[in-house]
Amino acid sequence: MKRIGIIGAGIMGSGIAYLAALQGFEVVQYDTLEGAVTRSHAKALQRMDQAVDAGKMTAQERDLVYRRLTEAHDWNAFKDVDAIIEAVVEVLDVKIAIFQKLDAVVPAGVLLATNTSSLSITAIAQATRRPQDVLGLHFFNPAPVMKLIEIVRGEETSDVTVEKAQALAEELGKETIVVQKDTPGFVVNRVLMPLFIEAMRMLEEGVATAEDIDKGVRLGLNHPMGPLTLADFTGLDVDLHVMDYMYDEFHDDRFAAPLVLRRLVRAGHTGKKSGRGFYRYPSNK
Ligand code: CAA
Repeated sequence: MKRIGIIGAGIMGSGIAYLAALQGFEVVQYDTLEGAVTRSHAKALQRMDQAVDAGKMTAQERDLVYRRLTEAHDWNAFKDVDAIIEAVVEVLDVKIAIFQKLDAVVPAGVLLATNTSSLSITAIAQATRRPQDVLGLHFFNPAPVMKLIEIVRGEETSDVTVEKAQALAEELGKETIVVQKDTPGFVVNRVLMPLFIEAMRMLEEGVATAEDIDKGVRLGLNHPMGPLTLADFTGLDVDLHVMDYMYDEFHDDRFAAPLVLRRLVRAGHTGKKSGRGFYRYPSNK
């Protein structure tokens, strides 16, 4: 594979685009938000400037990678790509509309992947006339750094498509697991969301401070970030969305979003500020 189409220029779309360019792919990226792709490429350039300053990359390498990042101005730009990765907002209808558009322009047999972190791959695949070519490629934030990609099969995904995804992941320098059954949260978020929820419930109950809950998990379990900081890093709005979706699908209290999370999101704390919201939560220290 040589040329990848990325739909979305938020945190995940930007991270995946940058990763793909670093690994030698030509990247064509699209976002409906004016200026989003330009900002995404500027951020990649800024990271590479830092790497050049730190002696981890040459200026020539930086320029080469930067030239591989291009913006798509309409859907026809995806006529000649080898794979597509969609990484837009976690709203099923939005993803379905995108896959319908892709179905109209992308040649048959091209890998069509969604980076959804919980939604049904089968439902997204059914928006196309080629559900066998569609699967989930779930990256983790920050995409250029995290080692894993979850490959998620929809009900009709073919073995050939899974093999193509594995080959692509390898070219991107990643390890993979294959999620055989299209279930909400796949494998990693099915484990992660109850961890977040338990940490938030302990905070609500006053079992320990936010700092100590995070420190306990960091030092006691060797996680690089405590769960409250990580929940913030992944985006509190995203976490709430994933929990609500999993709760609706499983009807299981393990996935019931804690009030503290709902209130923080309602108050506009959408995260990415290293535990800011939770660390201010009153607790009986
Ligand atoms: N893009 C590109 N590179 C990045 C980056 C980014 N956004 N953030 C960090 N890096 C790079 C740095 O440049 C640095 O590279 P070098 O070693 O070459 O210098 C390296 O990563 C380490 O970065 P830092 O030294 O700044 O920071 P750190 O050592 O504290 O690591 C971290 C930062 C990688 C984020 C680490 O704290 C970590 O692994 N945290 C856990 C992240 C995690 O669990 N992510 C999964 C979330 S769940 C999810 O995404 C899925 C979902 O559906 C909710």
